[in-house]
Amino acid sequence: MKYHVKSLSLAEKGRKRIEWASRFMPVLKKIRERFEKEKPLEGKRIAACLHVTTETANLMITLKAGGAQIRLSASNPLSTQDDVAASLVEDYGIPVFAIKGEDRDTYYSHLNSVLDIEPHLTMDDGADLISTLHSQRRALLKNVLGGTEETTTGVIRLKNMALQNKLMYPVIAVNDSMTKFLFDNRYGTGQSTIDGILRATNFFFPGSVVVVCGFGWCGRGIAFRARGMSAEVIVCEVDPVKALEARMEGFRVMPLEEAAELGDLFITATGNKNVIDKHHITKMKDGAVLCNAGHFDVEINKEAMESMAQDVEVIRNNVKKYKINGKNLFLLADGRLVNLSSAEGHPAMVMDMSFSNQALAAEFIVKNYKNLEKKVYKIPDEIDYRIAMMKLETMNIKIDTLTEEQKKYLSSWEIGT
Ligand code: NAI
Repeated sequence: MKYHVKSLSLAEKGRKRIEWASRFMPVLKKIRERFEKEKPLEGKRIAACLHVTTETANLMITLKAGGAQIRLSASNPLSTQDDVAASLVEDYGIPVFAIKGEDRDTYYSHLNSVLDIEPHLTMDDGADLISTLHSQRRALLKNVLGGTEETTTGVIRLKNMALQNKLMYPVIAVNDSMTKFLFDNRYGTGQSTIDGILRATNFFFPGSVVVVCGFGWCGRGIAFRARGMSAEVIVCEVDPVKALEARMEGFRVMPLEEAAELGDLFITATGNKNVIDKHHITKMKDGAVLCNAGHFDVEINKEAMESMAQDVEVIRNNVKKYKINGKNLFLLADGRLVNLSSAEGHPAMVMDMSFSNQALAAEFIVKNYKNLEKKVYKIPDEIDYRIAMMKLETMNIKIDTLTEEQKKYLSSWEIGT
């Protein structure tokens, strides 16, 4: 079996952690048990490019149980958990091509190794696999029935491809499921971003001024959790509706130009480029900490920081000090997503729903690809609600159901005042 991981000697540690995560993924477990019996992915080859974490490992094991042959690479050079990669190879017979800290060339060579499986399905987090397939490996497109995409940034890229008629097969935007973005982006990114910052710096939140750029699903999750830890939170937005929401949630709202002078900690979660730019950096206080939770390392202008710095020094794991105009600024995890680079990413409890969406989206494509166009689709609502219902059941929570009378009332118009 071909693979490329750091060291197979890490496998035992990885296996124990994968099993630990599995305890918190009961919905995925139910899907896995059904997949084992029904084999809905029998004979299908899947190329997956996802953060190589314990939760992803559980998804890979589920897809394999469904009959699929899989290869996995990382969707970010810093997010791989080397012990998990080793265990997938050693204990589960799943080829992985990922090493934490790999350089850009290795990252892309790993994507190509994954594509060598000649996939029927692609599974992406950020759309690097799909864009490599569409730009460099077009001969493989003929086999592909469809794909899935995990994150907001990937969905934006794919919708742009579809708009330009460049997308050559249907893709399910897993990110756009309610049981994904409302929970994973908000609570998952919220908690794990704080976790990444704490592990990298041991930062003290109470009384600190935390500036959150972006009040989308990830940004609001981060802002609420930072406030919950007694920080004073300032939100910076470009969307007037989101800015208004942030204000009415009690956050201070102002342009980053003004917030730059006030923040002790800056967190970007926008999916956009150069959100923190040179003119903001020059205004920051001595000791300010900068980090990013958005998908790519483009949100903080690192090149500007490099060019302005008189001195750059790694002072702790995942902390780089930049001396700029006599002030020390600290960049975490090289501006890559701090929750996955400095911590373990989202807790398994929330990834249970995201990856149940992935598994059911793969099954949906195999069953329905003939009826799908070369477009970006949401997962059908019926599947989304089914995942929510299963999650509630595993949490031992029951809810009410509509009576026949109520259903009739809600589909009528005649009865008024
Ligand atoms: P979203 O679309 O819900 O929110 C993004 C927000 O950023 C929007 O409200 C937008 O108006 C705002 N924004 C854009 N440019 C801005 C600027 N220059 N200044 C201030 N605000 C700006 O997107 P979501 O779901 O919150 O995702 C954000 C990023 O996080 C994406 O790159 C996504 O892929 C990534 N992500 C990262 C995760 C992680 O584990 N770290 C998990 C899930 C998503």
